[in-house]
Amino acid sequence: MIDQLPKLEGLGKDCRRLLHGRGGHFPELEHVAIDWFAPTLLVTLHAEKESNRWIQESLIEAAEDSSEVTAIVVQERHLPKAPKRTIYGELPEDPTAREVDLRYHLTLDRNQNHGFFLDMKPGREWVRANASGKRVLNLFSYTCSLSVAATAGGAKEIINLDMASRALATGRRNHQLNFDKVTCSRASYLAHDLFKSWGKLKRKAPYDLIIIDPPSNQGSSFYAEKDYPKILRRLPDLIGPDTQILACLNAPHLDESFLTELFADYQLEGPLPRATGFEDLRPEAALKSLIFRP
Ligand SMILES: C[S@@+](CC[C@H](N)C(=O)[O-])C[C@H]1O[C@@H](n2cnc3c(N)ncnc32)[C@H](O)[C@@H]1O
Repeated sequence: MIDQLPKLEGLGKDCRRLLHGRGGHFPELEHVAIDWFAPTLLVTLHAEKESNRWIQESLIEAAEDSSEVTAIVVQERHLPKAPKRTIYGELPEDPTAREVDLRYHLTLDRNQNHGFFLDMKPGREWVRANASGKRVLNLFSYTCSLSVAATAGGAKEIINLDMASRALATGRRNHQLNFDKVTCSRASYLAHDLFKSWGKLKRKAPYDLIIIDPPSNQGSSFYAEKDYPKILRRLPDLIGPDTQILACLNAPHLDESFLTELFADYQLEGPLPRATGFEDLRPEAALKSLIFRP
């Protein structure tokens, strides 16, 4: 099993997934994810297993020999409130994720989510490459990583919408971390439930680029089978003839055909590649990102 743990050398400054147990390529480590947010290693455990102690001890030993890893945080997702613990070294005061030339705030000492989805990297790259001069609507924006990417790509205006005001506050700080005041002012933030906000969004339409990246299922807030079709019914009010739509789906139980059937009246421009490091024996279970046009 020791061969399956990542080597803690040559890690560099850019964030990435080092071990994606859920992808099924690492027998006995299916419940583990290891992410690199320089200089911190984040180990996520999804089950209580005997091997957990050994995994942590092995990583601490490797970190002691590493010049790059100065802290290891373990999050136990299977426990109530998914607590995080620093098991080695000390966390940086204000930890960030660096992706190429952009940085994003992280929460590594508390909260269930740490604020940055590594598997959305192809989405951020695509948005950045396609945002120049555009008005962007970023639905389910969370901490606004796609808005930061759109701003870096020269978007004229970005409207971020998420019902979690704290995530949006981090989104605003993510813009401030990367851009000057004038550039930051291109982004705005709406802390609303999408399904109660159609009027507001319609008044600001049409948008040149619309991003839809909902959770798979989240209590009564979003349930893919029930709520994605509702978005499709409202989409005609938000688009123009050239609007591009990045539609994402992170529900392991639904495959790409769920999206292509929903968007049957739209042209499919193609899927985005899957993120490196998230290789999965069941690729359909991973995050799906498709580009559509009217
Ligand atoms: C998968 S995350 C989005 C990740 C984000 N696009 C990124 O790349 O970092 C899903 C987000 O949807 C938000 N959400 C869930 N239901 C919602 C609803 N009905 N209206 C608005 N936001 C909602 C959650 O608060 C959460 O931040």
